[in-house]
Amino acid sequence: MRPPSRKSGKILASCTHPRWFKLATMDLRALLSDHLHCERKAAESALGLVRRYPHRGGSVEALARLAHEETSHVALVANLLGERGWAPYPDTPNTYARSLLAEVRGKEPGRLLDALLVDAFIEARSHERLALLARGFAARRQEDLASVYRSLAAAEERHAEIFLFLAAPLVPAAEGAERLAFFSQREAEILNSLPLSPRVH
Ligand SMILES: [Fe+2]
Ligand SMILES: [Fe+2]
Repeated sequence: MRPPSRKSGKILASCTHPRWFKLATMDLRALLSDHLHCERKAAESALGLVRRYPHRGGSVEALARLAHEETSHVALVANLLGERGWAPYPDTPNTYARSLLAEVRGKEPGRLLDALLVDAFIEARSHERLALLARGFAARRQEDLASVYRSLAAAEERHAEIFLFLAAPLVPAAEGAERLAFFSQREAEILNSLPLSPRVH
């Protein structure tokens, strides 16, 4: 598969609030627990696309590899929790992802286009926030956390690009750009409406 060229950072219409790192890390066990469930849901979501669109041969391998990588992220975060003697807290509803998914249209090809764009935005925002965690932990000299978050941030950026790459051929370019602009605005609105808390988003 040709490497995607679109830079995921460019699709976000807003930057995370400067106080987010401090508030998100006030309860590290809660943050790591939420992060573990985010990685699990990312793997499940990619495999869900394989289940729903098995005939789209070009995307099945890419999505399966992505799910595999997300599963390895679940293990990495589980290890961060385990090293601290913590079991993850149970999953709680993710308003951010649910609000974005509520915008996915019901009819093809809009349904698949929207699902891939939602995944691209979740990955792009995860990239931004995991990079903030990497920088923040490095500043606090918590190098074990900083190094894991640096590598995870890079992976999530690549995942956003994969979803944009898979979405691109589905509709004419102008229609795709219009939908991308819609989700860019909507994602920023949803994020802005949520409190800053020990969650990835
Ligand atoms: Fe991940
Ligand atoms: Fe990802």
